[in-house]
Amino acid sequence: MSEALVERVAERFQDFAGPYLSEPGDGFAYRLKVEHTNRVRAIASDIASASCVPDRVHLAARIAALLHDVGRFPQYKQYRTFRDAESANHAALSVRHALREDMLDDVPRDIRRMVLGAVFLHNVRTLPTTLPPDTLAVARIVRDSDKLDIFRVMIAHFSQEDPEHPEVALHVKPHPTAYSQDVLAGLLNGETGDYRRIVWVNDFKLMVVGWLYDLNYQRSCQMLHDLGYLDTIFESLPKDPQLLDLRRQITTHLARRLADD
Ligand SMILES: [Fe+2]
Repeated sequence: MSEALVERVAERFQDFAGPYLSEPGDGFAYRLKVEHTNRVRAIASDIASASCVPDRVHLAARIAALLHDVGRFPQYKQYRTFRDAESANHAALSVRHALREDMLDDVPRDIRRMVLGAVFLHNVRTLPTTLPPDTLAVARIVRDSDKLDIFRVMIAHFSQEDPEHPEVALHVKPHPTAYSQDVLAGLLNGETGDYRRIVWVNDFKLMVVGWLYDLNYQRSCQMLHDLGYLDTIFESLPKDPQLLDLRRQITTHLARRLADD
């Protein structure tokens, strides 16, 4: 029953994305978002299963994963950028377009509320502490899943598989060894990075490393570990003493998360 409902929402998402994919010249940007969405859905389902959340949270997490980036399509079409600061909050756009296109038709009201909350909050820096527990769980699953797939997208980008598309890395400055001391200091303090501080490509990589601090579920940490993303990123960063210290700190943090019950 719930799988059929998720499939119906998935079909609505595909119907919504379809016309964008055939836009002349911009297929790459939209295809990236469709592939991202499908992977976030799969990761969310994995985290929800492994974390033994209630069925309603599992269902809402899969639907929210499907809809979290709906707003990216109209955002790119109108503004030709994925940078929210220069265009519009894409999470708010996702909520608006999901409702406008009736993508949540026949989704029960309580599930719908969790989905919309999680979609709206998927890109905020920190989640409000006052959320109802189920909505909080759905938002956390979607945020972890989103980050885990963006790790992969960024690594593919940094390893130059698709270097011609600057939107992926949001126009950071390329340089083999430069990075910002304030970005590093934040990470050593256990803080999640801030897009506004990013100048160099290595700052961006450091910010992505810092997402480890923001992962909510042990299963998410396990996936990050198994996929080896942090090692891949550190291998592409300069090998100076400060960054080797950071690498040790991050490796210890991940090991501790994996050992937690
Ligand atoms: Fe997003």
